[in-house]
Amino acid sequence: MNKQAESQPGHPQQPTHLPATSPLQAGQPPLLEWHDVTVAYGRRPVLWHIDLTITTPCLYGIIGPNGAGKSTLLKATLGLVPTAGGRVQFWGQPLAAVRPRLGYVPQRETVDWDFPVNVMDVVLMGATSRLGWFRRAGRRERELARACLDRVGLADLAGRQIGRLSGGQQQRVFLARALAREADIYLLDEPMAGVDASSQEEIFAILAGLRDAGKLVVAVHHDLRTAARWFDAVALIDMRLVAAGPTATVLTSSNLQQTYAGRLGILDELSDAVARGDRTS
Ligand SMILES: Nc1ncnc2c1ncn2[C@@H]1O[C@H](COP(=O)(O)OP(=O)(O)O)[C@@H](O)[C@H]1O
Ligand SMILES: [Mg+2]
Repeated sequence: MNKQAESQPGHPQQPTHLPATSPLQAGQPPLLEWHDVTVAYGRRPVLWHIDLTITTPCLYGIIGPNGAGKSTLLKATLGLVPTAGGRVQFWGQPLAAVRPRLGYVPQRETVDWDFPVNVMDVVLMGATSRLGWFRRAGRRERELARACLDRVGLADLAGRQIGRLSGGQQQRVFLARALAREADIYLLDEPMAGVDASSQEEIFAILAGLRDAGKLVVAVHHDLRTAARWFDAVALIDMRLVAAGPTATVLTSSNLQQTYAGRLGILDELSDAVARGDRTS
């Protein structure tokens, strides 16, 4: 497992409990960096002063309670909602310079599943997105889309309307679409939500494969027990950054209590899982 991922929450008032971070290699900008990012809907700020740095390819979890601003953070990262302050940089560059290198899987509930397209159409959107507008899918894109569907176990459903899929299948279609972009950084919003346990393991294996191939995978996630097993590093968010860094050092009772402020009954269970070293590899 790649556990070198490090984050450096820089907001001085936030307790971080971080281990010492190693310096970046000289001349190498971080893969992904949020600097003092604040986001507001109308006049209501929902994310305050987020400072977070991811230096190495890894599986990175964004964790926090409902309404914490996790989806907002991904959307702001991708320019889907404006920031009220701060900046996000990818390899030291702004979003506009790197967009084709990013893949996004939105939260499933936010997608219009009645939209009259089939599974193959959706994945082809990913495969052709690098070609620009008005470019039709050619043979290469079709083969790529088919290979990505195969990878998520949906090759048999290529012709099915997306509304007629189960929740887990819908999630995989969007994962296949992101894979078809052949991105270098993947941002996924709750990719495991509504997915049964065995499919979750399969999706996790795909994400771990991306990580092992040198990609950065950032996923919003809400199940703390699997978070402890799956992610190399995590950020705990509740409108502000509570803590960030290697998973085992961040998912402590004290950090979780700050993040969930008493909203959780599973803290002891989680501490046990972390203490047992419940990781997959
Ligand atoms: N489009 C929007 N307009 C106004 N408020 C929003 C919008 N989207 C989210 N919010 C609010 O912003 C806060 C953070 O939401 P969100 O980022 O979806 O949280 P999470 O993904 O952590 O559950 C919540 O209070 C939510 O109600
Ligand atoms: Mg959300």
